[in-house]
Amino acid sequence: MNDKEEIKFAPVPLSKLHPNEELCSDIYLRINEKYIKYKNEGEILPSEKYNLFLNKDVKEIYISISDVQKFMDWMVGLKERAVNIIVDDIGEEHRHLVEAREEISEIVYEVFADKEMDSALVEHLKNNIESFINKAQATKESKMIIAKLVKHNNSLADHSVNVANIAIYLAMALGHGHQFVLENIYLGALLHDYGKAKIPANVLENPGTHLYSQAIQFHPIKGAKVARQMDNIKDQVATIVEQHHEQYDGKGFPNNLKGEEIYDLSQIVALANRFDNLCDENAKKSEIEKFRASIKAIEYDRGKLFNPDLIKRSVTALKLSYGGYEK
Ligand SMILES: [Fe+2]
Repeated sequence: MNDKEEIKFAPVPLSKLHPNEELCSDIYLRINEKYIKYKNEGEILPSEKYNLFLNKDVKEIYISISDVQKFMDWMVGLKERAVNIIVDDIGEEHRHLVEAREEISEIVYEVFADKEMDSALVEHLKNNIESFINKAQATKESKMIIAKLVKHNNSLADHSVNVANIAIYLAMALGHGHQFVLENIYLGALLHDYGKAKIPANVLENPGTHLYSQAIQFHPIKGAKVARQMDNIKDQVATIVEQHHEQYDGKGFPNNLKGEEIYDLSQIVALANRFDNLCDENAKKSEIEKFRASIKAIEYDRGKLFNPDLIKRSVTALKLSYGGYEK
C-alpha cells in the first residue's frame, strides 16, 4: 500500500495563514502536479519564508482533507486572537475597524501573490479602503484609533497595512482631511513594496550580489510601472510607490530627488515606512520602549531622510499616539 496515494488534498489560501505560529497539521506545496510535504505539524512557517511565497507567485498551500476542519478552526482562532490583541487596546466598539484591517491585509496579500496585478482585485481593495476610511472617520478620536491599527509580525502584507494606517494618521494630523487624498495615500502605502514582492525569489535570497542590489534599487520603479498600467490606479498613487525611498538630502533612490522635488504624500508614506521598519527593528523591547526608541530615531534625522518641518510635526503626532505621552 502506498500512503502517499491515499492522501487527498485541499488548498488553503496563503493570504489567510498567519506566519510564526505552530502549525496544527502538516502542510504541502504542489510542485509539478505533485504534493510535497513542506512543514510538519508543530513546526513554524517563519515570516521570511511566508513573504518569499509572494516572490514565487505561490498563492496556496495544501493540507490533507482529513485536516480541513482542524485547520480552519486553527486559522479562525489565530485571527480572533490577533484581532483581540488590538481590540483589548482600543475598545470593543472599534472591533469592526480591526476586522476591516484584517480583511485589507488579506486582500493585499492576494494582490501581491498574483503573477500580474489583477484589476478586479485592485477594485475590491479600493472599495475596502473607501469603506474603512469612511468608518474610521465616523469614529470619535478617529486619528488615534487608526494609529493603533498596527501589528508587528514581519509579514509584508501586515507591514503594508501598518504603513498605510500610520501614513493616514500622520496625514490627518498634518491637516489632510480630504477623503480622496487619504484614499490615495492609503493605496500608495499598501502598494509601496509591490515591486519588492515581484523580485524573483532566487535574486532576493542572495543579498550581496549585483543582481540583488540592482533589483532593490529598481523595485520602486517596477511597482510604479505596474501601478501606472492599471486603469483604476491614479497617478498620485503610482508616484507614492515610485518615490517611497527618495530622501530629503537627495541621497535616496531611484531618482535622487531632493527636498521639495519629492511629492509631499510620498514623504509622508516614506516616513510611515521608516517608522514601521524601526518598530520591527526594536521589536524585542517592551511595547512602549519599542515606540519611543523608534520615535527618537525619527527625531534625530536632522534633514537627512525627511524635511525637518515634516519631522517636527510628525514626531509630535507620533509621540501623542504611540509614545504614551500626554497631550
Ligand atoms: Fe521599499
